[in-house]
Amino acid sequence: MNLLLLFLDFLWMKFSISLGKQIKFGWPSLGTMNLLLKNFLQDCWEVSPLLIKGSANNFDDKSSIFSSLRNSLGCRMNANALAMFLGQLVSCPPIASDELDIFSFLKEVDNSLGSPMTYENDIRVVKTPKFTSESIQHAVKEEIHFFKHFMDSELVEKFSFVKSQEALQDGYTIALRGMAFRIVEVAAIASGLSNLFGQPSVGANIYLTPPSSQGLAKHFDDHCVFVCQLFGQKRWRISPRQVAFLPRLYEPLCGLPSSKYEDDGCMDVLLREGDILYIPRGYPHEAHTIGDSKEHDNKSSSEFSMHLTLGIEVEPPFEWEGFTHIALHLWNQKYKKYSAYPIDHGMQNQRSMLVNMLHITLRLIADKNVVLKKACMVAALPFSSNTNCYGEHILLLRQKTTFDYIIETIDNSSSFSETLLYITTTVHEGNENSLQWMRWLRHLCQEEEEKEAFDKPLELLKEFLLLNSNHIKEVAKEFTEMKSEFCGSVFFEDVCDEYKMLLQKYKKTRKQYMNGMLSLHTCFL
Ligand SMILES: *[C@@H]1O[C@H](CO)[C@@H](O)[C@H](O)[C@H]1NC(C)=O
Ligand SMILES: *[C@@H]1O[C@H](CO)[C@@H](O)[C@H](O)[C@H]1NC(C)=O
Repeated sequence: MNLLLLFLDFLWMKFSISLGKQIKFGWPSLGTMNLLLKNFLQDCWEVSPLLIKGSANNFDDKSSIFSSLRNSLGCRMNANALAMFLGQLVSCPPIASDELDIFSFLKEVDNSLGSPMTYENDIRVVKTPKFTSESIQHAVKEEIHFFKHFMDSELVEKFSFVKSQEALQDGYTIALRGMAFRIVEVAAIASGLSNLFGQPSVGANIYLTPPSSQGLAKHFDDHCVFVCQLFGQKRWRISPRQVAFLPRLYEPLCGLPSSKYEDDGCMDVLLREGDILYIPRGYPHEAHTIGDSKEHDNKSSSEFSMHLTLGIEVEPPFEWEGFTHIALHLWNQKYKKYSAYPIDHGMQNQRSMLVNMLHITLRLIADKNVVLKKACMVAALPFSSNTNCYGEHILLLRQKTTFDYIIETIDNSSSFSETLLYITTTVHEGNENSLQWMRWLRHLCQEEEEKEAFDKPLELLKEFLLLNSNHIKEVAKEFTEMKSEFCGSVFFEDVCDEYKMLLQKYKKTRKQYMNGMLSLHTCFL
């Protein structure tokens, strides 16, 4: 059985029902799927939340990947089994987002493989207390952690039967991270989704919440999520997002917008078994279970809730900003290869520095323009398929239109003085961390010398200022000429292959990591 198709079947069948479209039984054809995906991408993706209602007998279909997941989790829902299950999970040490060499990762974590889960990284036990009627309105609710000294992994190791029961009875939610590395069914769903959206990986967390409780406090995420309700039900409240607010992955999240702003237009949803809720990144949300743990007469309202959250993590190279960095790099490679005049080392060096400067300009434009922060869909499944149908054509056309818009924006609004100011400030502060966003660009370089520009960007920027600060006017002119040349001669089609190759490299490492962690778990479970 193709797990991916099963999942797509599930997801898009439900989506089509929510759109009021009729689909004949059987799997939807690739064409239909493309059309549905096109609708989703056009109307909702990164833009607005969507409730995808499941039908009541959703999980009865034995061939569905979700019913298989439910079976494998269902038998762990009683207290004993749950504690055993938790006790057997091992830590999944985090892998750097731009690590493409699994062996260098393995060397780093060699000693800790197979060790017990650590707090924050693998598991959190958390609750957000309710307001009493007397408490101040609009005050910010805060999370309370079950473990007071939560850096101590000893505590988690001893998170045994007694402790987990105590925590759940006390209204704490157990949040398990990295579930795609621990349960094969979740791994299959996560891989399917990452292929569908053309991204290297999809994160998967599981949340177990007792009745009448809230786990995480209101927050927003730096990635879009699909929330799949596996057991019980949970009430969600999604607040509106400021227009054109799209946080980047790994970017420090600033505080929530004021609650006064959010009062209008909240979306309230009761998520039932089999439902899926899509929440775009940046939308503040919170969720709580209903019912009263003391009222045992009404079974349906005193159940535990368990849901799986699938996060579509758009790594920096696979946002539109990343695609455009790749375009610039390729364009420069081509220039070096086919340049008619033999250029000396000094000129070559100067040119490389100006290209690096343009990479920084691009970053500064992306800081202000939400289009560059969106996910690039060039490698999404419908485009990679062989069928040449309506949905695919329109989608690919939209990708090209987006790229053309970005190039026009760069041509119109790149500012030499702003970029120079950024470079001067960064060099002055000597803060290598603020150039961290550049590091992944080294994966595009073949030669060691080129890589250095992105490995140690601060050194090179220092050199740039040293060489150029006494003839800034000329540099500004050279920069503007080069920028116009780039904008006038870069083509969308030329970039796609290189983009997909980089994606494959990311995917490969993620897959190796996932398979490794899965096999660690099957040793124990
Ligand atoms: C139990 O709860 C459900 C959902 O909240 C409600 O519709 C139903 O009327 C309740 N039944 C009883 C017996 O209270
Ligand atoms: C770029 O500038 C031209 C001319 O001023 C304008 O017509 C166009 O809309 C601008 N494009 C973008 C993407 O800002």
